[in-house]
Amino acid sequence: MSELSDLYAQIRDCTLCSLARARARAVPGEGPEDAAVMFIGEAPGFHEDKSGRPFVGAAGRFLEELLASVNLTREQVYIANVIKCRPPGNRDPLPDEIEACQPYLDRQIELIRPQMVITLGRFSMARYFPGSKISVIHGRARKINGVLYYPMYHPAAALHQPKLRRTVEEDMAKIPELLAEIDQIRDGQQPTDVQQLSLF
Ligand code: URA
Repeated sequence: MSELSDLYAQIRDCTLCSLARARARAVPGEGPEDAAVMFIGEAPGFHEDKSGRPFVGAAGRFLEELLASVNLTREQVYIANVIKCRPPGNRDPLPDEIEACQPYLDRQIELIRPQMVITLGRFSMARYFPGSKISVIHGRARKINGVLYYPMYHPAAALHQPKLRRTVEEDMAKIPELLAEIDQIRDGQQPTDVQQLSLF
């Protein structure tokens, strides 16, 4: 068993917070063990809880459309969530739930070692950019310890708001160029050779 499948087994059996009691299935995440790009959403919803897979409902279909717009498929990227079990009624994750689940996501990132981590929505953004506002930093990449972090709005939020939808599409469109330039981007700084990109 690979370390990642071992981690999935631990997540499926996890009882560290009260969400374990109400879940149908935990949703560890999925994708290639050597994925260059990792998306981090918020929490499983109804369909994810039923299937045990991330982003399989309406937001997932939109995410797949967004990936296709930059010639990516969901099979090529890794998809995870900040918390692995569905909060009742899809309410926001609570701080103690996020804290209990944090070691799982940390370990996933350690094992996959993605070059680029794309946060979807406020909760995954807050892990890497505490105190930042998504309306200010979305679509702006920052390299920290060799990994490029890129905050985007959550696809579910963008689904029904035409303005946000355009923003998400525009932010997604920048990903291929960021990936192509990733080695030239310096940690924590604005590189001179990719100034056309929004970096902070
Ligand atoms: N929204 C998320 O943040 N994650 C999922 O897996 C599905 C919807």
